Amino acid sequence: MAEADQPSTARMIDFWLGGEHHFPVDVAAARAFETAYGPCAAIFRSLRDFLGRVVRSIADAGADGFLVFGAGVPAQGNVHEVASEATVLYTDVDPVTIRLGQRLLAASDRAGYGFGDATDLGTIDPAQLHRFVPGWGRRPVGVVFLGLAAFLDDATLARTLDELYEATAPGSFLAIDFDSEELTGYPEALAMMGPAFRMRPPAAFAPLLGRWQPTADGIVPVAEWRVAGRPAAVPDAFYGALATKPAS
Ligand SMILES: C[S@@+](CC[C@H](N)C(=O)[O-])C[C@H]1O[C@@H](n2cnc3c(N)ncnc32)[C@H](O)[C@@H]1O
Repeated sequence: MAEADQPSTARMIDFWLGGEHHFPVDVAAARAFETAYGPCAAIFRSLRDFLGRVVRSIADAGADGFLVFGAGVPAQGNVHEVASEATVLYTDVDPVTIRLGQRLLAASDRAGYGFGDATDLGTIDPAQLHRFVPGWGRRPVGVVFLGLAAFLDDATLARTLDELYEATAPGSFLAIDFDSEELTGYPEALAMMGPAFRMRPPAAFAPLLGRWQPTADGIVPVAEWRVAGRPAAVPDAFYGALATKPAS
C-alpha cells in the first residue's frame, strides 16, 4: 500500500497504542508532538479503554449495530473487536486511512469501512449503511463519535449531533468524547493540532449534546467513566460520555 505523505492523528494513535498500521511520517509527527507535550501512550491507552467500556455498555444494552465516525484505524481494541457479536460500519474522511481500514477488514463479513463525513450523513454509502447497521433509523444502534469533536466548531458539532439524533431510532446510544483545555499549557503542541482544533471545558460541552441525554455517569474524564478499580493516572486530556435517545 502507498505510504502517506502527511501524518494522520488516527495513525499516530495507532503508533501510541503499539499498533502496526502507521507510516514513518506518522511516527515522526508523534515523536515531535511528544517533544512538545510529553509522553502520550498512556493517555491514548486510557482513551481506547474508555472506547472499550462504552462500546461494551452499548452492546450489553442490546444494540447490535454500530456506526463509527472519524474511525481511524480499526484495530487495537476498536469497536468490532469489543462488540464481537455486532455489525459495525467504520467511516472516515481521510482516503489513506479508509484504504488502510478496508484492507484490514477485507476478510470480515461483520465490519466494513467507507467514506463518511460526520457533518453530512448523506455522504455515507446507503448500501454499506444498511448492510452493516441493519435497521438504521428503525432499530436502536450505537453511534461512536470519538476523537472527532475537537475538529468541529460548536455550531457544526451541535447541528451534526442533532441530525444524528433525528436520524437514529429511539433507544439509540451516542458514545462521545472531547478534548479538555490540557494543551493550553503547551503552545507548541497546540500549534501542531492545526487552526481548526477546539478545546472545551466540560461545562461548554454539555449544551452541544442538544437532545441527546447523558447517562447518570455524566461527562467525566475518560479514565473515570464506569471504571472498575482505580482510574489510570493520566492527565484529564479527554472527557467522555454515553448519551441516549430515550425509547419513546
Ligand atoms: C483523532 S483521530 C481519531 C481516530 C479514532 N476515532 C480513534 O479514536 O482512534 C480523528 C479522525 O477523524 C477524521 N475526521 C476529521 N474530520 C472528519 C469529519 N468531518 N468526518 C469524519 N471523520 C473526520 C480524521 O480523518 C481522523 O481519522
